Amino acid sequence: MRQVRTLGLLGTGVIGGGWAARALHFGIDVVAADVKPEMEAWIRGAVANAEGALSRLTFAPLPPKGRLSFTTDLDQMARSVDFIQENIPEQLELKQRILAQVSRQAPRDVAIASSTSGLMPTDLQRDLVSPERFLIGHPFNPVYLLPLVELVGGKATSAEAIEAASRFYTYIGMHALRVRREVPGHLTDRLQEALWREILHLVNDGVATTGELDDSIIYGPGLRWAGMGTNLIYHLAGGETGMRHMLRQFGPCLKWPWTKLEAPELTEQLIDRMVAGTEEEAAGRSIRELERLRDDYLVAIQQVLRQFNLGAGATLRALEERLYEEGAAAARGRLAGAAAADSAAAPLRLIETQVRPEWVDYNGHMTDSRYLQVAGDATDALLRYAGVDDAYRRSGRAFYTVETHVTHQAEARALEPVYVLSRVLEVDDKRVRLFHALHRGRDDAQLAAAEQLFLHVDTAAGRAAPMDAGTRSRLTALQTAHARLPLPAEAGRLAGKAQH
Ligand SMILES: NC(=O)c1ccc[n+]([C@@H]2O[C@H](COP(=O)([O-])OP(=O)(O)OC[C@H]3O[C@@H](n4cnc5c(N)ncnc54)[C@H](O)[C@@H]3O)[C@@H](O)[C@H]2O)c1
Repeated sequence: MRQVRTLGLLGTGVIGGGWAARALHFGIDVVAADVKPEMEAWIRGAVANAEGALSRLTFAPLPPKGRLSFTTDLDQMARSVDFIQENIPEQLELKQRILAQVSRQAPRDVAIASSTSGLMPTDLQRDLVSPERFLIGHPFNPVYLLPLVELVGGKATSAEAIEAASRFYTYIGMHALRVRREVPGHLTDRLQEALWREILHLVNDGVATTGELDDSIIYGPGLRWAGMGTNLIYHLAGGETGMRHMLRQFGPCLKWPWTKLEAPELTEQLIDRMVAGTEEEAAGRSIRELERLRDDYLVAIQQVLRQFNLGAGATLRALEERLYEEGAAAARGRLAGAAAADSAAAPLRLIETQVRPEWVDYNGHMTDSRYLQVAGDATDALLRYAGVDDAYRRSGRAFYTVETHVTHQAEARALEPVYVLSRVLEVDDKRVRLFHALHRGRDDAQLAAAEQLFLHVDTAAGRAAPMDAGTRSRLTALQTAHARLPLPAEAGRLAGKAQH
């Protein structure tokens, strides 16, 4: 199966738009195909709309954004992409026909996935050319912020197709959950549907309003669910003996008539109650407004969970680790060249980025803390080159910042391209002094300079310790090369050097 550089989308509604936004953000080109030409404007709007929240999800260095193109020619899309994600309406015959059509055009090493919420993969792959490359990749709305995607193979699906899809989804920041066996509704919708049926009964029976039922989740179980699922939470409910005690204590309730599960009939009265109830909850806020609110808290929750390496936060952390590693790998070649070259000593161009809109303060310029963030990314890339990666840190050694000095020379506005030139000024057994100059892309003007002193520590002992010999020698090679450059005017105002 191919490595995915271009994603093809079949159907560009709510879910297709979400896939497009996510893939483009993480550097994948997208060819979006829909039978309705008016969907081009729609999908471009959906991508722009998603960008606000997506751009706040992670500050790790990102690859250049992917390019979006649109076509009404499904066959042309199928011939020009590395992976196809189908998102057309949930009708078995329609999906079967369109999937078979694109499978006749797509090369055999192009995997084809369906976003279907509940149809069975064996039914969907029935008429495909090379049905072994077909699977279900079921995402959740908003696809650009929720990492879950359920992977379900049908009878003809190959392990290779599942593996390739899992790699691709992980690459664009998702958690690929492999479902062992095809069942209607896969896993998550089966669980959601059970809750949904109970809600409809409780509203139908006049027991509660939609708002009261939503309160029963958001003030309680909903808070727990983001970090731990029902099973682990119930394990805790059993006290010291966990799940065994929990089942003994609450097992008898399972025989009580707590749930109905057969859905009630959707009468006009029930529909009216559901509509009136949710309108009251929306309290005059538009769908767009509520979507923005939802997106903002979904970003914030994932960032909090990242601190605990839990659930969606663990997915985000793993993604960021890869992005930092890739950013550092791109810089590695330049670094090795710089350390080796005798004559052409030059500062290292480590970071190329853009001033993101949320980095700008009320003056319309990049705000102070972001200078440090960009300098931090440059430090990270440089130290990774010297061997200080995640494995190094896990071995109980790290560099801690002990001093920082930032000077500001010019301003940068939102969306301006910027880059960082870095130098190693000084190295000894336990310390390294770095100098970063942030430049504006359009005229190369220096915006700011950051000089920082880092101390190498044994993190378990909590005290300074000599760095690894390999790290020391790489940093020294860079420092030797950089010593041939004139000292920057802003350098030397810190780093343990008292200025009297
Ligand atoms: N909406 C959700 O929350 C959600 C979540 C997960 C999965 N899904 C699944 O994703 C799929 C799409 O759902 P949606 O909510 O995006 O629907 P949607 O109605 O918003 O979008 C469907 C799109 O498919 C296009 N289309 C119709 N026939 C087509 C054809 N022959 N070729 C190409 N395009 C065609 C339509 O023009 C439309 O733009 C469904 O299978 C659904 O079960 C939906």
